[in-house]
Amino acid sequence: MSKDIKEQFGIDEHRPSDWFEKLYAEANSDGAGVPWAEMDTHPSFKRWLKQQPLSANNVERALVVGCGMGDDAIELEARGFDVTAFDISQTAIDYCKQRFAQSSVQFLQADLLKAQAQWREQFDFVLEIYTIQALPPKYEQQLISSIASFVKPGGQLLVIAEVCDEARHFDKGPPWLLTPGHVQAFEKNGLSLSSQQIENDDSSAPAFGKLGRFVSTFIKKSCSHNSAPGLDSKNTKQ
Ligand SMILES: C[S@@+](CC[C@H](N)C(=O)[O-])C[C@H]1O[C@@H](n2cnc3c(N)ncnc32)[C@H](O)[C@@H]1O
Repeated sequence: MSKDIKEQFGIDEHRPSDWFEKLYAEANSDGAGVPWAEMDTHPSFKRWLKQQPLSANNVERALVVGCGMGDDAIELEARGFDVTAFDISQTAIDYCKQRFAQSSVQFLQADLLKAQAQWREQFDFVLEIYTIQALPPKYEQQLISSIASFVKPGGQLLVIAEVCDEARHFDKGPPWLLTPGHVQAFEKNGLSLSSQQIENDDSSAPAFGKLGRFVSTFIKKSCSHNSAPGLDSKNTKQ
């Protein structure tokens, strides 16, 4: 997708999120024209949920980063979470509200590259699927630090990303596949890796040096307790 999309939408490294609004505006609420739209819970998130049944105890708060068409937010709402889901594109948010008119998910337009102080340590569960890799490499540390900041002490973060062993460079994306180092970057931001699966299948474009789709679960360190929402604390690295 890299070259075509770059030319079609005039992707600018210094205004890295501008093209998403254009893409959604030219697309449709049924997902036609949105290359990453599953129009369902993301398959890797589905598999993860089968292995680690996640449910909110006493209405816990969840945040979906770069929520796109909104299906993952709806999955979390169905599991009892009080869900906030945001995206840079107002049109994407409008599609979510249209598609899920009965839902009480708070779908919001917001920018992950701007400070979102109101969300600092507010969420028991944070979900990030493919947003970091949708933005140029120079923003990686900033994005990781923001996403990590949203997790409550003792809360949980799930990151799903495509990973390769090649250095990241603006010319290579989008998407700008991550390197395995993204895991350590989250750890430097107060999170501990609690489990990880590396999936290999044909459902995404092949890329040189590709290692697979990393499905990484983190827990935010907490002084008082270390339990994650809806999970038993014996969950171990796989
Ligand atoms: C590759 S898509 C993934 C969408 C969704 N997570 C999924 O798996 O279908 C990346 C999403 O991040 C959103 N995005 C890009 N830049 C953003 C920013 N600065 N703040 C919030 N969302 C952003 C895009 O609009 C897009 O919906």
